[in-house]
Amino acid sequence: MAGTGIRRSVELLEAFRREQVDPDATYARLAADSVELLSRYTSLDQRVALDVGGGPGYTAAALRAAGAHAFTVDPSADELRLHGRQPEGALVGDGRALPVRTGSVDVCCSFNTLEHVRAPWAFLDELVRITRSGGVVFVCVTNWLSPWGGHETSPWHYLGGERAASRYARRTGLPPKNRYGESLFEIGVGEVLQWAERHPGVALRDAFPRYYPSWCRPLVRLPGVREVATWNLALVLDRH
Ligand SMILES: C[S@@+](CC[C@H](N)C(=O)[O-])C[C@H]1O[C@@H](n2cnc3c(N)ncnc32)[C@H](O)[C@@H]1O
Repeated sequence: MAGTGIRRSVELLEAFRREQVDPDATYARLAADSVELLSRYTSLDQRVALDVGGGPGYTAAALRAAGAHAFTVDPSADELRLHGRQPEGALVGDGRALPVRTGSVDVCCSFNTLEHVRAPWAFLDELVRITRSGGVVFVCVTNWLSPWGGHETSPWHYLGGERAASRYARRTGLPPKNRYGESLFEIGVGEVLQWAERHPGVALRDAFPRYYPSWCRPLVRLPGVREVATWNLALVLDRH
């Protein structure tokens, strides 16, 4: 068990700090945590699971280790091959129009991808569409006003996405990988929760700040505060 206490949060933070020197260990650690969280809401053994925007497939590998028949979809062949990986069970496809039959997966998950999608509601609708009745949809998203909302341009995104990107380019001589308005978009905790509450195909089972200890969970119920204080929102939906 990954636990829900401060030790897990510190470990995840440490993993993030080692991202540049040991990306493999960082992503494997995060994927193990993702699957541990997911397994609190559904059994994974022998279940068909799809990770949308899964990049090089760390999450799918961890899902397989937990007994699932897991697949990855990502629109970028380069992302699928990142860190020299050749992910098993991977297909190229856009999360907004998944090449997957309606109601065909037991578990549909997506980690830190929604903020990279220009039409986030179409993306979420697709995750719901392909999940069978009784299945689970699990989404983690970095909200824009979080301290990490601007990704590598943070915390300057608080002064505006364009300004933060220009500053990053001036400082490093390179544009940020996550380009504001092209591959990084503003998305809020409140609007994601509102989408979930209004969607006729799902019931909102849980929502919590993903990386924080469990005693921080009430944060997501505080309008305004949650936008800045929730580093990353985890959303658990039951498919009707
Ligand atoms: C920050 S990476 C996250 C990768 C992985 N889920 C993780 O947590 O390590 C964002 C991923 O979203 C993918 N992505 C961007 N737009 C997408 C879309 N419309 N549909 C599905 N995936 C998308 C990118 O190709 C990239 O692999």
